[in-house]
Amino acid sequence: MKTTILAIVLGSSLMVSAQQKTSVYLDVTKPLEERVENALSLMTTKEKVALCYAQSKFSSKGVPRMGIPEVWTDDGPHGIREEVFWDEWGGAHWTNDSCTAFPALTCLAATFNPELSSLYGKSVGEEARYRNKTVLLGPGVNIYRTPLNGRNFEYLGEDPYLSSRMVVPYIQGVQSIGVAACVKHFALNNQEEWRGHINVNVSDRALHEIYLPAFKAAVQEGKAWSIMGSYNQFRGEHCCHNDLLLNKILKNDWKFDGVVISDWGGVHNTDQAVKNGLDLEMGTYTNGLTTNGNFPYTEYYLANPFLKGIEEGKYDMALLNDKARRILRLIFRTTMSANRPFGRFVSPEHSEVARKIAREGIVLLKNDKQFFPIPVRKYNKIAVIGENATRSLVIGGGSSSLKVAYEISPLQALTAKYGNAHIVYSLGYASGPAMYGREESSKLNADSLIAAATEVAKNADVVLFIGGLNKNHFQDCEGGDRHSYGLPFGQDKLIDELLKVNKNMAVVLLSGNAVAMPWVDKVPAIMQGWYLGSEAGNALTDVISGEVNPSGKLPFSFPKKLEDNAAHFFGKLSYPGDSINEYYKEDILVGYRWFDTKKIAPQFPFGYGLSYTSFELSALTTDKATYGKGNIIKVKFSAKNTGSCFGAEVGQLYVSDPVCTVARPAKELKAFKKIFLQPGETKMVELNVKVADFAFYDEVRKDWNVEEGDFILQLGNSSGNISQTLKIAVR
Ligand code: BGC
Repeated sequence: MKTTILAIVLGSSLMVSAQQKTSVYLDVTKPLEERVENALSLMTTKEKVALCYAQSKFSSKGVPRMGIPEVWTDDGPHGIREEVFWDEWGGAHWTNDSCTAFPALTCLAATFNPELSSLYGKSVGEEARYRNKTVLLGPGVNIYRTPLNGRNFEYLGEDPYLSSRMVVPYIQGVQSIGVAACVKHFALNNQEEWRGHINVNVSDRALHEIYLPAFKAAVQEGKAWSIMGSYNQFRGEHCCHNDLLLNKILKNDWKFDGVVISDWGGVHNTDQAVKNGLDLEMGTYTNGLTTNGNFPYTEYYLANPFLKGIEEGKYDMALLNDKARRILRLIFRTTMSANRPFGRFVSPEHSEVARKIAREGIVLLKNDKQFFPIPVRKYNKIAVIGENATRSLVIGGGSSSLKVAYEISPLQALTAKYGNAHIVYSLGYASGPAMYGREESSKLNADSLIAAATEVAKNADVVLFIGGLNKNHFQDCEGGDRHSYGLPFGQDKLIDELLKVNKNMAVVLLSGNAVAMPWVDKVPAIMQGWYLGSEAGNALTDVISGEVNPSGKLPFSFPKKLEDNAAHFFGKLSYPGDSINEYYKEDILVGYRWFDTKKIAPQFPFGYGLSYTSFELSALTTDKATYGKGNIIKVKFSAKNTGSCFGAEVGQLYVSDPVCTVARPAKELKAFKKIFLQPGETKMVELNVKVADFAFYDEVRKDWNVEEGDFILQLGNSSGNISQTLKIAVR
């Protein structure tokens, strides 16, 4: 009897103490760090290690014993990828995982509208949340260095300032829904060719001025909860365990407190993975990207080998605690947070957001004799030619490929708008099936396709050619770069043939990259339409018909020919490298910085895009003439809609530093504002620009440096069209 009572008393006191111990990390009202420390103190070494590596293709373990949930990641960044099998890339054929496809990030960048970035992040975050994901694998902010990079469509363009301003609200939007953003691919993953091993050699200055700012903004302003290491090497170390990038810059200098997740199969070595800043290893072996083994997850570099190293005293427990802490922090910020909102999936609101972003990102490149807009009933017969008018452009491209609830094609939407009787369609060219990792050409005969298309074009009042790239291998697709700058699948020839029979023709390009345009002077109108997601056709038709006035601006320069692009100018060692090393010889002169400094005319400059109305940017002023280095410059200018319809212009403020101890680009974007104006309306626009942002990265001081002297503010509506300049002094 006595023993029983004692047992009951002992039992209940054990329970109480266990509960007291665990209650802190379970108590959502307690400060985050207290919860993390409490959870950590209750975990075994093995449990801590188990947090650091995958348990399936897209997930990692939580701490089941303590009720700490698994971490579920998913691509990203344009919609929520379908569910895959536990150990495989292949789709699991669920029937409840068809998502909304948002426009590709190049399109988002082309809106030059950070408010839309916020809406984008929130909406895609809601879709991720509904699908119970912890981490969204996106956004991507690798800088557009060459038009051949197969993944440019997933990124935010060539300018570090633009991509920084656009990435921050995206992250804030996603994370406001209790889903972690995972900014990728850190860093210097600017090509797909040899991405798994190419060793990038780049100066400290180009690293800090061009390739890191968007990541830094994502971490320091966006407060991203996770970041993904890239596949390539930088200064001889793979970026998933790169001491300089991860320990020194990201965690020490930038004070990143989130999780460094490896790219799938990007880890190569236990010692470096343990010591050089990686926290969570994903995708190694197990039929992942590196198929040279069929190891169980417990053989991952950060699994048993790490555990063994800890137990044998080879690795300091502090290294493990740091990783575990970061992963616990991520879980408490997401799945175990108090106020995690509910998500929603494929809602009309998301369609509306997708359409809005798509419309605002479309860029009108050429519009002679007001070819566009084409109001309903203007023409009797509209010939629509080209595969991209009907092909799915949400499928393919690699990890961002989406299984969607719906996708409106351009042909569908144009037919709905103009009426069946007024639209005739012909394929014109064919590219072959969508496949990852290999190419298969179409079995259709190219000459017959051209003959059929010219027949249709000949008898039409107007021709809309809808082509571009697609997301096949060696197009806009992960795992390989484009092989040439020209349009693929015989489109240039087709365009020439079409022009022979009907000159009243526009070229509408759907792509994530610039392409060569040998026909640029022969066609009256060109529109850049990107990959626009579920609402692609509707958004394009809104702009084509004039219901929406285009206001997108190019987030990267379109060179006339490949050699005009800086990376290509310096030959093969500069791009793509010799398969072992690659040298970024153009240094800081990326994109328009190169074109403007070297006075090479691009086909279309960065920041460029036409409208159906016209604007005037004038009266550029500042609040003072001289500033201190810590000051903020209050810049003002006036923007007027001088045409006859509602529209939006992007005022772009570039800055140059004419006298400096180091070479500086002709100009650099330091502020921009999208301004919506009624016909005849004028608005005063104010921009706050920090003098500190005029700094260059000083390789001698190893820090940012603003030298005293004069700076020229340049206001324009593209890097190629400056309408106002103003000199200010920094003393
Ligand atoms: C890609 C990442 C992606 C991951 C998971 C990798 O191959 O580079 O961007 O998030 O796969 O699909």
